[in-house]
Amino acid sequence: MAVVPLPPSFIIITAHPESPFDREDERNQNTMADVRVPKEKEREQETEVNEAQIAVHWKEEQYYYPNPKFIGQANLSDPDVNERFGEKNFPECFREYGDLLTWDHYWHTTLDTSDAPFWKWFVGGKLNVSYNCVDRHLAKYKNKAAFIFVGELEEDPPVAITYQELYHRVNEMAALLRDFAGLKTGDRVTIHMPVVPELPITMLACARLGLIHSVVFGGFSGEACGMRAADSGSRVLITIDGYYRNGTLTDHKEKADLAVVLAEKEGQKVDKVLVWRRHRGSYASAKPMVEGRDHFVDDVLKNYAGQKVAPVSMPSEAPLFLMYTSGTTGRPKGCQHGSGGYLAYVAGTSKYIQDIHPEDVYWCMADIGWITGHSYIVYGPLALAATSILYEGVPNYPDAGRPWRVAQQLDVNIFHTSPTAIRLLRKAGPDEPKKYDYHFKHMTTVGEPIEPAVWKWYYEVVGKGEAVIVDTWWQTENGGFLCSTKPALDPMKPGSAGPPVPGIYPIIFDEHAQEVKAGSGKAGNICIRNPWPGIFQTIWGDRERFVRQYYQKYNKDPKSKDWRDWPYFAGDGAVHAADGYFRILGRVDDVINVAGHRLGTKELESVCLTVSEIAEAAVVPVADEVKGRVPEVYVSLKPGVSKAGVEKKITDAIETQIGKIARPKKVHVVPDMPKTRSGKIMRRVLSAISNHMDTGDVTTLANPDVVEQIRVMVQGDKPVVKKDVPEDLKRFGEEQ
Ligand code: WT7
Repeated sequence: MAVVPLPPSFIIITAHPESPFDREDERNQNTMADVRVPKEKEREQETEVNEAQIAVHWKEEQYYYPNPKFIGQANLSDPDVNERFGEKNFPECFREYGDLLTWDHYWHTTLDTSDAPFWKWFVGGKLNVSYNCVDRHLAKYKNKAAFIFVGELEEDPPVAITYQELYHRVNEMAALLRDFAGLKTGDRVTIHMPVVPELPITMLACARLGLIHSVVFGGFSGEACGMRAADSGSRVLITIDGYYRNGTLTDHKEKADLAVVLAEKEGQKVDKVLVWRRHRGSYASAKPMVEGRDHFVDDVLKNYAGQKVAPVSMPSEAPLFLMYTSGTTGRPKGCQHGSGGYLAYVAGTSKYIQDIHPEDVYWCMADIGWITGHSYIVYGPLALAATSILYEGVPNYPDAGRPWRVAQQLDVNIFHTSPTAIRLLRKAGPDEPKKYDYHFKHMTTVGEPIEPAVWKWYYEVVGKGEAVIVDTWWQTENGGFLCSTKPALDPMKPGSAGPPVPGIYPIIFDEHAQEVKAGSGKAGNICIRNPWPGIFQTIWGDRERFVRQYYQKYNKDPKSKDWRDWPYFAGDGAVHAADGYFRILGRVDDVINVAGHRLGTKELESVCLTVSEIAEAAVVPVADEVKGRVPEVYVSLKPGVSKAGVEKKITDAIETQIGKIARPKKVHVVPDMPKTRSGKIMRRVLSAISNHMDTGDVTTLANPDVVEQIRVMVQGDKPVVKKDVPEDLKRFGEEQ
């Protein structure tokens, strides 16, 4: 996120045209006028700004407009959509999404609010998700590729899996899960796999039987997987022997052994481990198969060859999957997503925002182990009979030209990735895209704020100035997009996610539940005023936490059955520009967004405390050129213990208990933590030191001297204060 440093005596307020399309003549011109306010005025304004309304200063970017060729073919080119999905048509407007699916029984109630805020969508309806993603496409598309698998090794040719073959393989796997693993409708199954075709095949086989899958990102450690398996109550774990990462076939099965031990420690027995093999018939892991517990899926599948399993007709409200994500406590929470509402929402947004047509070649380079992969590699695209590419590896293997060679070879025309991947590819190969003959009509960025300069490289170099870009803001909890431009209808503005997508009504509140008006230039907490079909149903096993964390803050009447009383609190800071565009500033809680993935600072701190030498730990986010934010760790030691080797012990503990993605940038062993007189660790002060900000007034601390000591330790003798620090870093730890 680029926050433009202010000239010391000026505050910049930007004026906006009412509607981006009102000024035809100024298309692609910078339409924003800077109004400069002298210093006295600035002071006046500052006194009005309370803590929750920190003024945000950033330069408005010019609009970019979709090209006519794109508009001509777009699924959504009718501006009436705003009216159709307007508040007066809510919730019935979402019928349009429900009608994209094939129902065994049509629903009678679009939205049931009787158990607010546990919303129920398309109530009375019954359907099967695997039927909707596979079977129903056979009549027209059985010979079309559902997936094209691109392994990481470039010498291995891509493998296409047609809808017919997918149907076949999903049925066989469903037969195995039912008859060999003994799984029944409603059972949970933990899946710890990388991006290989066997992952969506397993997910769809679960959906066919009404099993609830819980896919754990392959890069998470065995222990992290075991903890999630225990929380979800899974007695079956599905894994793979190994997969390619940076050109090496890694041993992945070893994580399953650790997961089973950890799950058992947490009270959950895992009695079956089903092991896919990356190369059929040869075993990539050094860990032996455990007799009676571990089974090679390819061997067992032979007994189910050609079997068909009738899709189980499930209520719209039946849970489809759990996706664990980090929050403000040490324990990740299992976000429970439903069937009918979820599938309708991802199908609708895949059609309108991703602009997927059956004849497109669509590549979302995310990992299926995150929500983006569930919604926009597997369920949304398949509900639309798309061809979805599965890429196993890292974006820059063997070099930064790889994605563009894949795009050229497979004639990809829709591309979807994160700012972290874009920054990485830009840094490693800024001129690579030009060398390849591919043409995207549409590109997505998701997961973090994107700096305007990075956005422009994406647009001009990757998109060759031809592709429309959508910057989609949403979260694991949300099922699908919340804010994004409608690609053929709204102009793009680098660095801003844009207006809400159809049927979403956001609002920005300050800490006193007062609306922060569009164009005020002030930041606040972005909330969604209404329910939508993709919203998660609850936190697995913790209804109370669900209400407390997402709805309590701005709810005035906990007994209300009216959706208007239950704004959804997203946990992000945002600014609403006068043109209606939202700019997302980042988390307002103690969650760090590392490379587009959420990590709880509490989670990391509790890992640090498992290292025997550590007395206290505090984790803060620091800005990183590629990954956006990365964690830095501060620890103090128990009396009398030696400092030797502590940094490594902490890094190792984090890697084994969470995974490599959580690896800290630095570990600082400090003499003491800066603390309030009541003994609270001042994370805000530590974050200020790590990010070279002014530490502010520390004289009221219990131990003010330690601040300077730590500052010298971290920054050296000549401490530097930087001005252009992103807003989320400035606000980190403020609540404490
Ligand atoms: C957090 C959610 C949504 C799938 C991937 C991440 C941040 C997400 C954007 C965006 C700025 C964004 C928010 C959000 N975020 N998209 N387009 N612009 N920030 O899912 O792991 O649940 O993380 O990612 O801070 O709260 P997640």
